[in-house]
Amino acid sequence: MGTKLIIDTDPGVDDAFAIALAAVSADVDLLGVTTVFGNVPLAMTTANARRLLQLCDRPDVPVAAGAARPLVHRNERNSTVHGVDGLSGRAGSLPEATRPLEPQDAVGLMVSLLEASDEPVTIAPIGPLTNVAALLAAHPGVRDKIARIVLMGGGMAHGNITAAAEFNIWADPEAARRVLSEDDVPCVMVPLDLTHRCAVDSAWLAKLASSGPIGKALDALTPDYLAHYRRVLGYDGIVMHDAVAVAEAINPGLLRTETYPVNVDTSAGPSRGQTLVDRRPALQDPGAQPGRLIEVATDTDLDGLREFVLTRLIEAR
Ligand code: RIB
Ligand code: CA
Repeated sequence: MGTKLIIDTDPGVDDAFAIALAAVSADVDLLGVTTVFGNVPLAMTTANARRLLQLCDRPDVPVAAGAARPLVHRNERNSTVHGVDGLSGRAGSLPEATRPLEPQDAVGLMVSLLEASDEPVTIAPIGPLTNVAALLAAHPGVRDKIARIVLMGGGMAHGNITAAAEFNIWADPEAARRVLSEDDVPCVMVPLDLTHRCAVDSAWLAKLASSGPIGKALDALTPDYLAHYRRVLGYDGIVMHDAVAVAEAINPGLLRTETYPVNVDTSAGPSRGQTLVDRRPALQDPGAQPGRLIEVATDTDLDGLREFVLTRLIEAR
C-alpha cells in the first residue's frame, strides 16, 4: 500500500476535490479525516467531510471533529467563497454518511492513528492549522510517526483573505507559527502563489463532470466557488488549492520545492497572518544560521498536475 495519509480539512469546495483525490486513489492508505473550523463553522465542515467520504464510497475512513475556533484570538469572519454550507449550498445533494462521527476529537484520532501505524504517516492540513498545532504541542511523542506535513497555506507575494494573508494562515496565525516556524517536523508549504497557477478551466471541469457519479457530484458543488474565481481569474475556472497540496502529499516530488525559513506575522495589524518566506541569498550560505527551514512549493508541470488530478478522479473506483 502507498502513502499513509491523514487529511485535516475545512470543506470547502477545493477541499472536496482534495478529499476525493485521496479517497479514490488506490495507492493511498487514507487512515482518517479530521475537521476544523474555517470556510464554514465546524459543524458544517464535519458534516461535509463525512458526506464526501460517503460519495467516494469510503465509509471505512474515520472522521473526527476538531477545533471550532482558533487557538488564541477569535475571528468571526467566515469565507463567503464556498457558499452558505461550504459547498455552494449543495451539501444536501451528497449522500448521508452511514459511518458515525468518531467519539474521539480530531487530535485524539490523529494520535491513535499515528501510534497504530507501522510506518510514518503524512499529514495534509488543508484548512486552518489549529488541530495540527495542538497535536504537536500536546503529543510530542508521536512526532517520529509523522513522515511530513504537506499543507496548503501561505503566500509569498500576496494574500487572498487580506492583501497580506492567505486564508488558512490568517484563520489561526498562532497555530501556523507553531507549525511553520516553531517546530521541527518536516514540512512542505504549498502557497497560493503556486496553487493559483494550477487553476483549472471549464473544459477541465466538463471532463470531470462527464466522467461518472463522483465527478458529476464534485462539479455540482462548484457554482458559488466558480462565481468567485471567474472574477479572480478572468475566465471560467476554479483554483483547487487543496488538491494541489494533496497531490504532492500522495505523489512526493510532484511539486518543485525550495528550502527557506518561513515566519508568520501574529501581530494584530493589517499584515496579521502574513507568511514571510525569507529568500535572502545570504541565508543559503553554508555558514548561515537560518534556524527552522521548511520546503516551499514554488513550481510544477502545471498541465501535468492538472492531468494527474483529473485522471485520478476520472478513474475513481
Ligand atoms: O486560501 C485557500 C485555502 O483557504 C483553501 O484551503 C480553501 O479551502 C480555504 O480553506
Ligand atoms: Ca481548505
